[in-house]
Amino acid sequence: MSLRYFVGYSLLFLARLLRKVFAQVSRAVSLLEQFALIVWTSSEIDRYSRDDWNSWASVQGYARMDHWLATEQALVEKYLSKNGELLNLACGAGREALLLARSGLRVTACDRSPRMVAEARRRAQEAHLPVRLAVADLLDDLPYPEKAFDYLFLTNIALSYIFPKWRRVRFLRQAHSVLKPGGVFIISFALARGNPRIPAGPSEWLFMRLRGRGPFNREYEPGDRLEGAFIHFFRLEELAHEFQEARFLVKEWLGDQGYAVLVKF
Ligand SMILES: C[S@@+](CC[C@H](N)C(=O)[O-])C[C@H]1O[C@@H](n2cnc3c(N)ncnc32)[C@H](O)[C@@H]1O
Repeated sequence: MSLRYFVGYSLLFLARLLRKVFAQVSRAVSLLEQFALIVWTSSEIDRYSRDDWNSWASVQGYARMDHWLATEQALVEKYLSKNGELLNLACGAGREALLLARSGLRVTACDRSPRMVAEARRRAQEAHLPVRLAVADLLDDLPYPEKAFDYLFLTNIALSYIFPKWRRVRFLRQAHSVLKPGGVFIISFALARGNPRIPAGPSEWLFMRLRGRGPFNREYEPGDRLEGAFIHFFRLEELAHEFQEARFLVKEWLGDQGYAVLVKF
């Protein structure tokens, strides 16, 4: 074997070894990040999320979006007639509110982030679309009268941004109350895929043991994760149970695509 071959081979070997080591370190670092879920209480997680969604970077990212997401458009065409009152919850920078208003619906939209709402308002004015916008948090009472809307629309997994469970059920009950009898709610969430215990793993095992103790987050639930944002990943039975607790009937499941169509009777 020549020396030149040996040196080249050693470099290749070292590069591959380092790549493996870095991959393991990066996995360990992201595990460390998950610890915010058990160290913070739900209110602290919420405070962080509020600031994060209200950051200029988030607003600018969403302000550029003006197209339907996969599945949304098909559901809109199937379930929403063109002349009803629609409430778009967690509307962000107005992407779907503007698309819905263009289709002829009377659209009211809200989000907890004042900057997102300001951007949605600016875009609606620029497009001469009469969307009524408000800053409103899905964790609080919704600022709308009972039975005010024919349709509710909450897309892009926004139900998964609410936790713990009691807050989601509270929100779903509020949504039920502002919807007219017979009204339709198109709703989106993140599902835990594969293993039904997902997203089980070392962190979840550990957090479930820590959550009952001392200063740790007592409201931590299996499925709570930090994946860019704080997200609750649902198991199907869990989701069905929450819809039922809020007295919604499920008209259509598109669980693998992260959507369901609910009806109020
Ligand atoms: C993924 S963005 C989606 C925005 C928009 N629906 C879209 O699809 O382009 C999530 C939005 O949910 C909003 N949000 C998260 N938690 C919320 C809450 N508790 N109440 C109201 N809005 C919330 C955020 O401010 C953010 O604008």
